[in-house]
Amino acid sequence: MAGTISSIKDDHLRQVRVLASRTGRHESGACLLEGATLIEHALDTGAALRFAIHAEAAGDPVSARLTEAAVAILEARESILRKAVGLSRPVRWIAVADLAEATDDMPYGEFAVVLDNVLDPGNLGTIVRTAVGLGVVDVVCAGEDIDLTSRRVVDASRAAVLRARIRRFASPVNAVEALRARGFEIVATSGRGPTMQGLAQLTGRPVALVVGNETTGVSDDVLALADHVVRIPMSSDVESLNVGVATGISLYELRTRALLTALRDHARASLVAELGEAVDATLAELDRTVTDTDHLTGDQLAVLVTLLADPTADPARTLGRDVTDATAELVRAGYLDQEVTPEGRQVVAGLWSPLRRAEATALAGFSSEERQVLRSLLHRVVRNCRRPAGPLT
Ligand SMILES: C[S@@+](CC[C@H](N)C(=O)[O-])C[C@H]1O[C@@H](n2cnc3c(N)ncnc32)[C@H](O)[C@@H]1O
Repeated sequence: MAGTISSIKDDHLRQVRVLASRTGRHESGACLLEGATLIEHALDTGAALRFAIHAEAAGDPVSARLTEAAVAILEARESILRKAVGLSRPVRWIAVADLAEATDDMPYGEFAVVLDNVLDPGNLGTIVRTAVGLGVVDVVCAGEDIDLTSRRVVDASRAAVLRARIRRFASPVNAVEALRARGFEIVATSGRGPTMQGLAQLTGRPVALVVGNETTGVSDDVLALADHVVRIPMSSDVESLNVGVATGISLYELRTRALLTALRDHARASLVAELGEAVDATLAELDRTVTDTDHLTGDQLAVLVTLLADPTADPARTLGRDVTDATAELVRAGYLDQEVTPEGRQVVAGLWSPLRRAEATALAGFSSEERQVLRSLLHRVVRNCRRPAGPLT
């Protein structure tokens, strides 16, 4: 316990009173938390708390958490506390938390929410809570009247505003231009947007989702500047959705799509994808050399070779792919009948030289040791993939 407050003139309570006004909050870079639950939420976010004050006889689990976080705890009479906070109902716990505004040099993440003059504290709190909950911490206030520090917003956000990286711009156009300069794709939302949100063709760049004022929506200038203006489809009985709800839907859908795109790009850049590309390129080279010589594709030759080695084999099964077209073409060209025809045998006999040429092209510049190593590595890949399921050793 850091001490007892006995007078309303105490310096801690003076700091609390300053936080009643927006200017006071901005100048002191702090906001007020009221209630033990909200203080616990704030501790969960990892926010820095300057101090906490509780009314007499308020023994709560939050005390232990504050002590653990090395936050100074003071005690005051409930009536003094209530007066300092300006509430008529009983006040048991308050705390003062640092606001963590983002600086210009701080990097953005892959997704940002831009509030185009959204003003209602409940909506603002819901939006920030939802955004932070879905992993989006970059929140851009576009418009001078937006205030994310009031008690109602902090409360409605369950203290998530303390987790957000908040930036401020005087106008939505300034905000959108600054985000575009940073490489963001601008996705504005409107119930009358021309593109259904799920069908917007996003490029994979970071996304700035712009949501609009409760009455006037996203400003016309921003709609004109945006890369996409998307709508969440609604029944015609409804003019628009509540902005907090609409933001939740948009965040969920667009974030999920962005994550899937990133996953796909990652898979494309993976070693497995590179192996696949090497196989495709080698087969294409084989196709080219073979086709130059015999006018047959690699698949057609593979079918012939398979049936020559074992006339009872099922080539699709042996080769592990659909060879219906290749087989039909061989029959049409007279290389295959009930079995491989003499013409077909002739083609296979002439196969070795194009095969050697394709291999020489694919492995040009490889020493014989490197070829050995490659062969053994490829054997290991095949063995690994064909081993029974179970933990890898
Ligand atoms: C209540 S609406 C504003 C309605 C306003 N009359 C207008 O013309 O846009 C507030 C914000 O919620 C979002 N919103 C609401 N319904 C939407 C929908 N169906 N599709 C996309 N965004 C929507 C938009 O960001 C919109 O600016």
